[in-house]
Amino acid sequence: MIRDRRKIEELCEAHPELSELLTAQMPRHVAMIMDGNGRWAKQKGMPRSAGHYEGVKSVRRVTELSSDVGVDYLTLYAFSTENWNRPQEEVDTLMHLIGIAIEQELPDLMKNNVRLYLIGDLSRIPNEALNRLRGAEEATRENTGLKLLMCISYSARWELTEAARRLSRRVAAGEISADAIDEAVFADHLATAEFPDPDLLIRTAGDCRVSNFLLWQIAYSELKFTDTLWPDFDKPEYGRILLEYQHRERRFGKTSEQIRTN
Ligand code: IPE
Ligand code: IPE
Ligand code: MG
Repeated sequence: MIRDRRKIEELCEAHPELSELLTAQMPRHVAMIMDGNGRWAKQKGMPRSAGHYEGVKSVRRVTELSSDVGVDYLTLYAFSTENWNRPQEEVDTLMHLIGIAIEQELPDLMKNNVRLYLIGDLSRIPNEALNRLRGAEEATRENTGLKLLMCISYSARWELTEAARRLSRRVAAGEISADAIDEAVFADHLATAEFPDPDLLIRTAGDCRVSNFLLWQIAYSELKFTDTLWPDFDKPEYGRILLEYQHRERRFGKTSEQIRTN
C-alpha cells in the first residue's frame, strides 16, 4: 500500500525515469547491505568515521522512501559479527554512532509510523548504545507502518547456529520430535521468524558478496549490486532499483509460461 502518494509523485516529477514506479507491485521486504562508508570518507581525505556519520543520512532516505512507497519490511545490515574484529577505535565509534543515530532519528520514525526491531547478538553491544537502541525499539512498539529491522552484531551463521541450538534443546526436552523438524519449523527458530523473506537484497559499494547476511532468508531473493558508496545512495537510485525489481520475472523454479498463466 502506497503510504504517501504526493511525495512519490514529486520524486517522479524530478526523475521522469521513475514515472512507472507506482504502476507495479512493490517488493514486500527489502534488505540492504550498507557498504562503502570507509571508502567514501577516504576519497574525500576524511577519517572513516566521517563516512559512517554521512551514512546515517542514507539510512534516513531509504527508510523514508520505503515507507512512502509501501514497502512493508526494510532490513538494514548495520554491523556484522565480523565487524567486531575491526580496530577497537572504529568499533567504539560505530557503537556510539549507532546508538546516537537511532535516538536522533526517533522523532522521524514516530512521524512516519515506523516500528523498529533489533536483530543480532545484542549481548555484545555496550550498555550505553544498547540502552538507546532498546529505548527506540520500545518507543516505536505501537507503530503500524514500515517495519525497520536493524541487524547489529548480526551474522547469518550466528543466527543459524542459535536456531540449531534452540531446536536441539527443545528436542532434548521432548517438546518436539526430531522428525517434525521441517523448513517451516526451522525458520520459526530464526531471529527473523516473524518476518517474511526479503524479496530484494541490495548491496552498495561494488563488492558482489553477501558477507554472512541472511543466508537462509535470501534463498530466493532478487539480488542487486551497485557501485554507489552507501553515503551517496539516494532516493532516485533506490527508486530505479525498485523499478528494475518490478521488471524481473521471479520463477521460483517454475517455467516462464507457468508464471505468466498464473
Ligand atoms: C559499511 O561501510 C559500514 C559497516 C560495515 C559497519 P564500511 O565501513 O565497510 O566501508 P568500506 O567497505 O571500508 O568502504
Ligand atoms: C558488511 O560490510 C557488513 C555490513 C554492511 C554491516 P563489510 O564491509 O563488513 O563486508 P566485507 O567484510 O567487506 O565483506
Ligand atoms: Mg565494507
